[in-house]
Formats: sequence, structure tokens, C-alpha cells
Amino acid sequence: MAGSPKLLDDLRAMLKRSGSHTPVQVIVEERMACGVGACLGCVVFTGEGPVASCVAGPVFDLWAIAS
Ligand code: FES
Repeated sequence: MAGSPKLLDDLRAMLKRSGSHTPVQVIVEERMACGVGACLGCVVFTGEGPVASCVAGPVFDLWAIAS
């Protein structure tokens, strides 16, 4: 699934309400200017801190992305 932060928050909330523990991978929609991790314009916040989605993603575990 690809989506905006709001859509990912809604998906996370829906899965929590349903009690689902299904692994979910999502594609984040961050703007990517350089694509090589130099500009930090595509940073997403994860449980391990901020990461450049162009290098570490753009596919992430839904539960690893900070809401
Ligand atoms: S697009 Fe520049 S760091 Fe990701």
C-alpha cells in the first residue's frame, strides 16, 4: 500500500481496532529531490530514528514508522 501519513495513520488505527497482527509493508510518499540520501528531504521517522526514505525505503514496515 502507498499513502500519505494520514492514510498510514488511519490504516494503523484500523488494524489496531481489529486486533490484527498481520505484517504490513507500505510505500511512503515523501518527495525525493536527490535520491541518494544527501538532501534529507525525504526523511521519515522510525522507531530507530529518522531515516532517508530514498535510501532506507521507500518500502517500510507499517509498525516501524512513527505516527
Ligand atoms: S531524496 Fe534526498 S535524501 Fe532522500
